[in-house]
Amino acid sequence: VDSVCILGCSGAVGQEMLKCLEDRDFPTEKVRLFGNRSAGSTVSSKKFGDIVVEKFSLEAVQECDICLMAVSGDFSKEWAPKIAGGPKNTQVIDNSSAWRYDEDKPLVIPEINGEGRVGEPLIANPNCTTAVGAMALWPIHQKYKLKKVLMSTYQAASGAGAEGMAELENGLATWVKDGAVPKPEFFAHQLPFNVIPQIDKFQENGYTKEEMKVTWELQKIFGLDDDVKVACTAVRVPTLRAHSESITVETEEPISPDDVRELLKSAPGVKVVDEPGSLKYPMPLNATGNYDVEVGRIRQSIVFGEKGIEFFVSGDQLLRGAALNAVIIAENAVK
Ligand code: HSE
Repeated sequence: VDSVCILGCSGAVGQEMLKCLEDRDFPTEKVRLFGNRSAGSTVSSKKFGDIVVEKFSLEAVQECDICLMAVSGDFSKEWAPKIAGGPKNTQVIDNSSAWRYDEDKPLVIPEINGEGRVGEPLIANPNCTTAVGAMALWPIHQKYKLKKVLMSTYQAASGAGAEGMAELENGLATWVKDGAVPKPEFFAHQLPFNVIPQIDKFQENGYTKEEMKVTWELQKIFGLDDDVKVACTAVRVPTLRAHSESITVETEEPISPDDVRELLKSAPGVKVVDEPGSLKYPMPLNATGNYDVEVGRIRQSIVFGEKGIEFFVSGDQLLRGAALNAVIIAENAVK
């Protein structure tokens, strides 16, 4: 294609989108970057040369073939349809939650439900927590049919954006210097030396919005029947990057850890790290910066017996959970 643009290029996800385009040698003549905070500055790309960041204008974005959006839901609600409906039929891949739950908008993880969706004008990227867990859950669902999914998450500070990372880093640095963690301004509670069992707003049913996103999005992406139940407890932990998840599933068919290990070894986007004897299992430190979601601690569930397994995943939520997912959708569109 002639050009791909990134909207929100200076945010945590926008920066990773550019890295993915470079790293995967995306077939475009030009990359344009839009970001109101960084407009006027120059980004030196090893593949696409020096790029001057532009201030957002509808006309400029409509000149591009593909638009990767890493902006807020409100911004996306207002502008994505106008960009997608522009003179060049720009394809928009949106990372916010603005379009994920609209019935007529595809919510896509390319390796799972991307087929037949490539030409759609506006495609939604899933929530990062959903995407990371889905990579392991999908092959299991295909072979054994999910009946119940219980998930607890361990979500890195970067999931809340640059301000979240800064508050964790500053909090730890101040503790080293002064022996006390400053009062939090961004998170509801101090994150260093703590975990916070709340991400996003509480809903009427007692779950948070982050937790319900996992339920809603797995239902939509996998096309689950209403009687398949998915529940999540989402927790912020003081890691910097990569989300981890402890997952228990009950299946319709008998399932065994050895079979699941074999199944996941050949699954796209997944790396089995499961050698308890040598203390090898998924950890966010190792998953950071990698495309594949690590899966390990695979064991028969003593709760659900022969129709249940439990496992642990760690995946870079800025990559599989956001930038990488969007770039693979775009790659499939230009093939
Ligand atoms: N909402 C997630 C989090 C990030 O706060 O960790 C991406 O969905």
